[in-house]
Amino acid sequence: MDSKSKQAKRKDASKEKFKTKITADEKETDEKENKSKYGPMPTFPYQRVFTRAILILGVLTVVYFGTKENKEVALAKQKEILQHRAQDITCSDDYKTELEKFPGCVPQRCGRVVSDKLVSASEADALLSIAKRGMVHGGSEGGATILDLHSGALSQGKNFVNIYRLKNVKDVFKKADFTFYKVVKTKIQHAVAHHFGIQPNSLYLTHPTFFSRLTAAPALTIHDEYWHPHVDKETYESFHYTSLLYLADYGRDFEGGRFVFIDKDDNTNRTVEPRKGRVSMFTSGSENVHYVERVTSGTRYAITVSFTCDEKYAIEDPTFPQMEHKH
Ligand SMILES: *[C@@H]1O[C@H](CO)[C@@H](O)[C@H](O)[C@H]1NC(C)=O
Repeated sequence: MDSKSKQAKRKDASKEKFKTKITADEKETDEKENKSKYGPMPTFPYQRVFTRAILILGVLTVVYFGTKENKEVALAKQKEILQHRAQDITCSDDYKTELEKFPGCVPQRCGRVVSDKLVSASEADALLSIAKRGMVHGGSEGGATILDLHSGALSQGKNFVNIYRLKNVKDVFKKADFTFYKVVKTKIQHAVAHHFGIQPNSLYLTHPTFFSRLTAAPALTIHDEYWHPHVDKETYESFHYTSLLYLADYGRDFEGGRFVFIDKDDNTNRTVEPRKGRVSMFTSGSENVHYVERVTSGTRYAITVSFTCDEKYAIEDPTFPQMEHKH
């Protein structure tokens, strides 16, 4: 090979933009030059090959177990202020038999959505005040107290009482409380309908819709055990959409108590950290297996607002006069 053709070849090589230093010496053969097309073939001392092998093995192990093991990701952190964060998931078969019965309402788009812009801080505070004023008159001895303004159910000790039968109930609630409650409920109803692509008037508020107060106190009855993974629609067949409005802040008012979606498909737990005024809305079927972590300290307040497509299970908004009737 004459030096001219060698030069041409080297020119070709530089055209191909080899950035790495080609160590082939001038007297190398054509064969070697062809190889250089795929980059230089570096040689390593035995030790370096060994180190690299270990490194690669390590990376593969992390990738392998990383995908096999449960992961945890935050769907909504407490510190975030979310306009709208949605995650779509494939609907379970749970709704199949109802699709014809309640067309345009039963979920065909499934998933979750979190918004911090739906309910204002003052609305959340007004509702928190209702919960606190009501719960003063009862309270579970275990970790979970509920107050249902529709039925009047209030945890007391190991049982429930009807708050509307308490003697001084007239001093507990104001008419404006019920107005706030209804306004917030209606906003959530419209947000659910809008997000999941259905008509707001095809959706009905259903039982149970209630305030909850969770603490770290040890459970005394089954009602106190809120931390078991479950599917809402299995517990309450009438449910189609579940929503939660948080009235306290994770990491400030309490520790633990995050809401967790368990996604088997990708072995991932997706957490929603409660934030005052944050609304989380999701379809109630088995595509949304979830639980609430045990509260480890402080007090966690929230409202569960439940919706059905079946008018048969609709409940009325609680009203001040109704409260007086029951009294
Ligand atoms: C996800 O939740 C399940 C059910 O409670 C639990 O067993 C698992 O440890 C959780 N995984 C992570 C990574 O937190």
